[in-house]
Amino acid sequence: MARSALGVAVVGAGMAGRAHAAGYRAAATVFGEGIPDVRLVAIADANGAFATDAARRFGYQRAETSWQAVADADDIDVVSVVVANTLHREIVEGLLAAGKHVLCEKPMAPSVEDAQAMVAAARACRQQTGVGFTFRRSPAIAAIANLVEQEVIGTPVHFNGHYWCDYGVDPSGPMSWRYKGNPGSGALSDIGSHVLDVAEFVCGPIESVRGAVLSTVITERALPIGTTVGHAAAALSDIREPVENEDLVTFTATFASGATGTMSASRVAYGLANSLGFELFTTSGAATFDVARPGEFGFMDGTPAAATNGYRQVPVGPAHPYLAGGLAMDFPGVGYGQNDLFVWQARAFLEQVAGVSVLPHVASFEDGLHNMRLLRAVTESAKAGDASDLVG
Ligand SMILES: NC(=O)c1ccc[n+]([C@@H]2O[C@H](COP(=O)([O-])OP(=O)(O)OC[C@H]3O[C@@H](n4cnc5c(N)ncnc54)[C@H](O)[C@@H]3O)[C@@H](O)[C@H]2O)c1
Repeated sequence: MARSALGVAVVGAGMAGRAHAAGYRAAATVFGEGIPDVRLVAIADANGAFATDAARRFGYQRAETSWQAVADADDIDVVSVVVANTLHREIVEGLLAAGKHVLCEKPMAPSVEDAQAMVAAARACRQQTGVGFTFRRSPAIAAIANLVEQEVIGTPVHFNGHYWCDYGVDPSGPMSWRYKGNPGSGALSDIGSHVLDVAEFVCGPIESVRGAVLSTVITERALPIGTTVGHAAAALSDIREPVENEDLVTFTATFASGATGTMSASRVAYGLANSLGFELFTTSGAATFDVARPGEFGFMDGTPAAATNGYRQVPVGPAHPYLAGGLAMDFPGVGYGQNDLFVWQARAFLEQVAGVSVLPHVASFEDGLHNMRLLRAVTESAKAGDASDLVG
């Protein structure tokens, strides 16, 4: 291939950083030729042991302990930023100034203002940028979005979406960056950002939100002894700190099309580790998705005879996005999981960098900013508190 190899790095070797590292590692193994060779150059983490471990596990040439080392490196072209949300802006702006292509995790920033500055920085340079709304790569969700876009399933009427997790349900879970920040920076930003993006990916833009409730169930947590990663349990110190943001959020939305959304996100959903799902009702059909059964989706329309009609489970296969050529063994029914979404996302971003467009582009920084505006609107709706109390 004539194009020179792309050097890749990941900043952050925590839960999602490892998924990015693994994604780049496999990106050239799917969908045939089409991107330059990928050199797995560096993993950077403020915790040197995490960086070293991830570099070893995923076959990267070296470990670094600062993002600046990545910015300064001449052999790195493409960088994923996969650290706490409050760190995104500084690191993204520094990497863009150093000429790197940057894929930033969601939510894009801690505030709309930070996201606006990041959009401005991206517009002022020539590199590719994107935001990691990974669920757009779910073959089943993308298949449902295609059914809507191609008007196979009618016009959306009601989207009921949730992202329910239980990573915060245990009061003895350690304090982490996820529990710090303004209202709206908790479950809403962390996982509600995905629900909103999926809702718009399937049903088009949201115009307004209302009726939001933010709720904090566990109001303080103990600091861990030592370092933690992701949602992992840890030995706890005696120092307890307040949980500053919400464990749970519910709200309604109105799409530009006139469709109605009802959505919730929770990190205290007992017994559900990672439950993203939705029900979509349209003018002439319906579709459902549950990430616990990622290889299928529910579908219903009026075409079969009434006597045999009903919801049917459609197994995702070569007729749907991502599977043909997207797995090492791309045979119908072999199954795939959330880690595969990071492979396809990495592949899509490398295609963008290489000027190739086979897969849909990753969500843009403008999309990330729009998502931040939605998060702010939900938070403001909660502050407005338009409750109607029952009297008498
Ligand atoms: N797209 C998805 O499905 C998905 C899933 C999980 C997390 N995320 C996002 O990924 C980001 C990271 O989340 P996580 O769960 O991996 O967090 P994490 O806490 O597991 O890992 C964060 C890592 O960043 C490191 N770090 C802290 N400060 C740093 C610095 N200045 N420079 C370099 N490294 C530093 C920490 O040592 C830690 O290893 C967040 O923005 C989160 O919202 C996205």
